[in-house]
Amino acid sequence: MILVQFTGLSGSGKTTLAENVRYLLIENGYKAEIVDGDVYRKTICRDLGFSKDDRCENVRRLFHVGRNFIENDTIVLMSVINPYENLRNELRNYEFVRTVFLDCSIENLIKRDPKGLYKKALLPDNDSNKIKNFTGISDVFEIPTKADLILKTDSETVSFSTNKLYEFIIENVSYVNSGTIELKSNL
Ligand code: ADX
Repeated sequence: MILVQFTGLSGSGKTTLAENVRYLLIENGYKAEIVDGDVYRKTICRDLGFSKDDRCENVRRLFHVGRNFIENDTIVLMSVINPYENLRNELRNYEFVRTVFLDCSIENLIKRDPKGLYKKALLPDNDSNKIKNFTGISDVFEIPTKADLILKTDSETVSFSTNKLYEFIIENVSYVNSGTIELKSNL
């Protein structure tokens, strides 16, 4: 089984691609679950904000949830901004983790802005509706240097990126599985 740690700015397509790919995986007989930052920030991560420490704690908790799914032969799509290279690299140390970067230019995200969050992040400092520490605008997003797959979500169509991600997962699931089998037979 594998856990896909997405990394990408808000609005870059993480939730859309995770949902599409989960649907395809289930259609093809796999178990798959989405572990989504926006969802868990309303429950087990409700106490967390958007400081560096809180974002890292958020990703760690979601990874913990994801590991439980992995143990139940379920493919995990961990859909979070996941902005820090160190933490992403720490998770990469697990052989079942793959890093997928959803690369979309900030100009494009500001234009699309489906949730109106960029508009709020760009408000003047004295506006009470301004979102502070917004990733990509007023908070850091470290460009991943070691992604296993990059999806250019501002130039690829949704179906193209979905298929690319699906094929990537299928290839890697069999790779990780055969690795595990080999390991077991050596014991
Ligand atoms: S992470 O940085 O900790 O990985 P996560 O993916 O859980 O982030 O949450 C990001 C979502 O929270 C965004 O898609 C957006 O809906 C919302 N959000 C609210 N405030 C912020 C902010 N300051 N920076 C980024 N996202 C924010």
